[in-house]
Amino acid sequence: MLYMKRFLLTFAAVVAALTVSAQSVATVIVPRPMEASEAKGAFVVTSKCVISVSDDALVRPAEIFAGYVATEVGMTLAVEKSAKKGILLALDSSLAKEEYTLDVTSKGVSIKGGTPQGVFYGLQSLRQMLVSGERTKKGVELQGVAIKDKPLLGYRGAMLDVCRHFFTVKEVKQFIDLIAMHKMNTFHWHLTEDQGWRIEIKKYPNLIKKGSVRKETIIGRNSSTSYDGMPHGGYYTQEEIRDVVKYAAERYIEIIPEIDMPGHMVAALASYNYLGCRNEKFEVRTKWGISKDVLCVGKESTFEFIEGVLEEVFELFPSKYIHLGGDEAPRDRWKVCPLCQKRIKDEGLKDENELQSYFTHRVEAILAKHGRKIIGWDEVIKGGVNKSVTVMLWQDKRRLQATTLGNEVILTPKAHCYFDYYQTRRPYSYKEGPMFAMRIVTLRDAYNLNPYENLTPEQYKNIKGVQCNLWTEFISTFERVQHKVLPRMSAIAEAGWSHGEKNFDDFARRMQYMRNLYDKAGFHHYATFFYNGEDVE
Ligand code: ACM
Ligand code: ZN
Repeated sequence: MLYMKRFLLTFAAVVAALTVSAQSVATVIVPRPMEASEAKGAFVVTSKCVISVSDDALVRPAEIFAGYVATEVGMTLAVEKSAKKGILLALDSSLAKEEYTLDVTSKGVSIKGGTPQGVFYGLQSLRQMLVSGERTKKGVELQGVAIKDKPLLGYRGAMLDVCRHFFTVKEVKQFIDLIAMHKMNTFHWHLTEDQGWRIEIKKYPNLIKKGSVRKETIIGRNSSTSYDGMPHGGYYTQEEIRDVVKYAAERYIEIIPEIDMPGHMVAALASYNYLGCRNEKFEVRTKWGISKDVLCVGKESTFEFIEGVLEEVFELFPSKYIHLGGDEAPRDRWKVCPLCQKRIKDEGLKDENELQSYFTHRVEAILAKHGRKIIGWDEVIKGGVNKSVTVMLWQDKRRLQATTLGNEVILTPKAHCYFDYYQTRRPYSYKEGPMFAMRIVTLRDAYNLNPYENLTPEQYKNIKGVQCNLWTEFISTFERVQHKVLPRMSAIAEAGWSHGEKNFDDFARRMQYMRNLYDKAGFHHYATFFYNGEDVE
């Protein structure tokens, strides 16, 4: 019965694919464009087609696009300034920063953007149309279309945890390629953790010498007593980080680094034990979960260390926002530390929650000196938070509280955006692979993220954007990273980009084409949803 059902679904998908290829090519685009209407005529993109740019600032996006076409369509397109035919790229100051128009007529393709970033997004749409367009002997035939498109939300991001498992510069760039493919504009790079410190800080060399390697890793969940006995480590030199920042910027992606504090700091404590409340010796954590050992907030030397680290972070990352974590900082050590207790007394604080707020304010002052702003996980709300702090919401239950405070909010609620969770309700039948996170986020769950759900128009204004997150405790290879992120990243991209009513069936239909792109671009993906009705439903 199940096989029959699967066969029928596959058959239905193939029929849908055939039907749509005869329709306007715009119907293949993910995230769904704001407006797309059919236009007269058709145009065949051949390898003689020139990508013509009206402005020097469009040369690099055109070259990046030509790279996609070479790999994914097998055509080599030249980039020229001010040619008159083919794929014309231009700026149009009447459009917003991320807005573009894309027109296909019998004369050719024209993409205009408010900025080069807008043009780049138009090129991402054209890329999808070319991959799924009709192949003729001469090239790829595109039906006439007029698209006008811009994002719903200004912040559209993805986070990668490179600490629980380390990923190379090449892999991080591939992750950035995925973000670009989805017209997202932010890479949240989670760089420090209990289990490994990954960013070179010249003033504090032990962070790399000691903090970047753990001696072994637990096998399975924390209830396990087995360890693999193999050191795991890795870090990015400052030179490598500059290279990655440049790579992202060329794709209109800003990198927001996260230096998670005052919790999730065991790798730093293992490097400089004076940072803890008890001056004891620590080692880089070898299991998962939350450590009771956190930064001591009673000592001035803790703030000197943070300032020293952040000064180098500011040099490397031009982003206005720096993510300072703030999540999962147990109070156990602070409760019994004489210095932390003295701080509470001296500053007239009520309790340890207010001690964390004191910590956040102090770090915010360091950032403000350098013209930067804080993003913090939603725990920063507890004990009070300045209006200037952007709250990254991950705990579903805090949504209402976070959005009523008046602070800017980035939505990354677990129930939709945590991609370490299973993506099928039947993990054992569908080769989900080794997975130990406890919850499920199917493609439909991810798609159902509605940024404005249950909010008043007054609260809407506080929603800055959406983000998907990949924590990597149980993800040790980059192949698995791709498998966890695709196809769900496409759903979050659509939540952040697309206007109007949600329609999962239409999204699932367009995802048939997105899969073509994943395949042609060489990305692994979790294919079950394409034939498993239960996951699609
Ligand atoms: C988090 O998942 N601890 C932000
Ligand atoms: Zn202390």
